[in-house]
Amino acid sequence: MNLLNAKNLSHNFEYPLFSNINLELNSGESIAIIGESGSGKSTLLHILSSLLKPDEGEVNILEKDIYRLNVADLVQIRRDDLGLIFQSHYLFKGFSAQENLEIAALLSHKTIDKKLLNRLDVGHVISQKVTELSGGQQQRISIARILTKKPRIIFADEPTGNLDNKTSLEVMNIFSEFIKENNAAMILVTHNEEFAFSCDKVFKLHNQELEQIK
Ligand SMILES: Nc1ncnc2c1ncn2[C@@H]1O[C@H](COP(=O)(O)OP(=O)(O)OP(=O)(O)O)[C@@H](O)[C@H]1O
Ligand SMILES: [Mg+2]
Repeated sequence: MNLLNAKNLSHNFEYPLFSNINLELNSGESIAIIGESGSGKSTLLHILSSLLKPDEGEVNILEKDIYRLNVADLVQIRRDDLGLIFQSHYLFKGFSAQENLEIAALLSHKTIDKKLLNRLDVGHVISQKVTELSGGQQQRISIARILTKKPRIIFADEPTGNLDNKTSLEVMNIFSEFIKENNAAMILVTHNEEFAFSCDKVFKLHNQELEQIK
């Protein structure tokens, strides 16, 4: 089943970043996007994940043209179907890790997965305030928070950036099991080629074009 279909995307800031990009994502599938720093990967991910309207082109998610939806419908898709894991964490800073997870569980009518927290090695710190956690622990809590709501599509920008090798590998395993078990899908931006090539497809953003290399 097609979950995302992007057509003819072009975007410019002070200069052209990329043009005429097409991308399809089906359920059960993982896609990695690699490319040099500054090539536009995060910008492309923002466009694909409903956060930034492209200068040209359209993004269809679950067959809806997301940049032509009204705000209420877009908010609903974001809340129910999309899981955004970005470089800055978007955790509520004044709250504990546990409270952050409870908010996600409450909003999506799901439950907190204790096993997942232990696999991410944050089960023992969830009563602490977010500001008292290390960068890597915050990153893992935000991964747990996103997976708690069981999104159809995970958009992840360097999700293992603050993590050591062993934990990074565990996070990648958790993503791939999550995709299989929930018939979900993922678009991953990463500088780690090993993780990129563990995805079903790999694209490289280079010279304003998106080239498929796997
Ligand atoms: N909001 C913005 N306004 C103007 N220029 C921007 C904006 N966001 C990004 N850029 C510019 O667009 C280019 C691409 O940025 P982007 O963050 O997409 O790159 P990236 O491929 O994700 O890089 P990295 O691997 O370092 O994360 C950069 O030159 C950046 O300065
Ligand atoms: Mg980036």
